[in-house]
Amino acid sequence: MKGLRWVAAGLLAASLAAGAQTADETAGAALFRKSGCEHCHGVDGAGTKKAPSLLNIRKEKLWTAAKMTDQILKGGEKMPPFEDSLTDPEIAQIVAYLRAKKRPPLPGPVPANAAPAEPK
Ligand code: HEC
Repeated sequence: MKGLRWVAAGLLAASLAAGAQTADETAGAALFRKSGCEHCHGVDGAGTKKAPSLLNIRKEKLWTAAKMTDQILKGGEKMPPFEDSLTDPEIAQIVAYLRAKKRPPLPGPVPANAAPAEPK
């Protein structure tokens, strides 16, 4: 197991060095679009009146991976929780996408009227 972990870390470092996107980041991009995040955060997460931009969140020290995971799981003041609609691995992929140095493009057409997620 230990050996494998080193191999994985090596692969990750290599792909980051090459500026390539990891499988998690690419899956996260698809989930970001599919989950309706853009309904509030805007196309590509650029931000709207409803919700802040997520474009530079990887540079904000406050927003650690753990904190982002928590925000997506539990929601915030005006953001609905996603703990019932996304699995832990899916949320980890979205966080990987949000924290990617070079984000993969979001696949598929922009949802014309992506339904708002219902706050509970
Ligand atoms: C109904 C609107 C809405 C939807 C849908 C939504 N968000 Fe948010 N989000 C917000 C608002 C508003 C905030 C600001 C803090 C708060 O009020 O919760 C926020 C904050 C965040 C933050 C913290 C950034 C910051 O500066 O506050 C992250 C990360 C985030 N959202 C990710 C997501 C992801 C990923 C999705 C899709 C799975 C999503 N959001 C869907 C409204 C939304």
